[in-house]
Amino acid sequence: MNDATSYEVTIVGGGMITEMQILPSLYHLQRLGLINKINICALNAAPLRSLANIQILRTAFPGQSFTAYPDYTSVSDQETFPDLYRQVISGMPPRQIVFIALPDHMHNQAVLFALNHDQHVLCVKPLTLKHKEAVSIGELAHEKGLFVGVEYHKRFDDRVGMARLKYRAGEFGEFRLGYATLVEPWWYRDSNFQNWCISENSDMFTYIGCHYVDQVHLITGLLPVQVSVYGTEEDYPNGRKGYLWTNARVIWENGASLAVLNGMGYPNVGPGGNSQGIWLFTQGKTDGGLMFHDDQYRGVKHAYISKGEDAGETFYNEPSPDYFKLVERGGDGLTPVGYGYRSIEGLVQAVRRVEKAAEQATGQQALIKRRRQIETIDKEGIIATPSNSSFNELVVEAGRLSIVNSAREVIIQYGKSAGVRFRE
Ligand SMILES: NC(=O)c1ccc[n+]([C@@H]2O[C@H](COP(=O)([O-])OP(=O)(O)OC[C@H]3O[C@@H](n4cnc5c(N)ncnc54)[C@H](O)[C@@H]3O)[C@@H](O)[C@H]2O)c1
Repeated sequence: MNDATSYEVTIVGGGMITEMQILPSLYHLQRLGLINKINICALNAAPLRSLANIQILRTAFPGQSFTAYPDYTSVSDQETFPDLYRQVISGMPPRQIVFIALPDHMHNQAVLFALNHDQHVLCVKPLTLKHKEAVSIGELAHEKGLFVGVEYHKRFDDRVGMARLKYRAGEFGEFRLGYATLVEPWWYRDSNFQNWCISENSDMFTYIGCHYVDQVHLITGLLPVQVSVYGTEEDYPNGRKGYLWTNARVIWENGASLAVLNGMGYPNVGPGGNSQGIWLFTQGKTDGGLMFHDDQYRGVKHAYISKGEDAGETFYNEPSPDYFKLVERGGDGLTPVGYGYRSIEGLVQAVRRVEKAAEQATGQQALIKRRRQIETIDKEGIIATPSNSSFNELVVEAGRLSIVNSAREVIIQYGKSAGVRFRE
């Protein structure tokens, strides 16, 4: 039996997504009692020191902290610790939570390691870069009755939830044509992205385009069957190359098509955190339908009389209140709000549901009960799991094959011999 009410969490990766979304969300869940200890592992000391000293997090969560691996107070920034996370996970009690927030190409190994050490796993998207890897992860998790959830936070954006209900009630008719764009800021080029989001590992479609492919599936239930991705390779400031502008075409099982435009070039002087949104054109018997989400401009306009010096800080700003913000809600510190927080909470609650289901049982009985609960979550289709969202891995795999072959069309096959191949 496990304590089904509160978990130790080890976050592996101390970068941007940990800072902006995962850590503050987990701090709040710690405040609510769902999480007890928080560990964070990074490759070296610098990101951990920086996380520990972020003023807004100290203000928002007074008295709360994490245990850093390596201990940034006693090692130099030059030393690296690529395997330390394995030691930390090995030392955790069974069936706690490991949150993988590593660069895309490192997810698979780390997820498998955590599962093999009896931990529930939450992972930032994309789960893996290869479909076979996601399948193996799903199989191992099933064998051990462990939950694996993939963090697609747009699934928790209420406008997506509204669209899903209305689409599935038939109020939009059928999706026929769409385009989505998500262009990240130019200043990302100067960040750690230049060390890993490079041509041999990833590209802008793989990194960020998957959100909108996932979203179309969540709303419509359709599966993608064909992908082609055109990308231009550009130099990062450190001289490494990345596919920093990508234009993908995704064909769906009903013949509908979605263009997905991604890039790392939203102007630093622009008022938003990035440029993003989706248009879906649909049809009924006698008229067309339309769904448009402006996901960047969410109705807020601010002009400040002073601004910070960091890249992307602007006098005129259009901040999104919907993704992730820390606001006053009474009580100590600040409270996280937005779909970024709801997504992390949803994932942790899913682990709790799995553990709760088996609370009164032991041995084989407990394993069966945990498996059943995981199957229920799979079927609900709200939280992405290896079993209900592995089309995303097929799209990523197809996209990677296409982009390095001058945008050749790649077919996705489902079923027993699921995989990707060039269109003849
Ligand atoms: N919109 C989104 O859903 C979204 C946004 C940002 C990032 N992400 C995903 O999150 C992941 C990380 O992105 P990021 O922006 O935080 O990247 P980042 O480059 O800022 O951070 C990567 C972190 O991994 C750590 N790391 C590298 N090797 C390690 C090792 N061997 N052991 C422990 N730590 C190690 C580094 O120290 C660093 O802290 C990526 O998979 C990315 O696709 C998703």
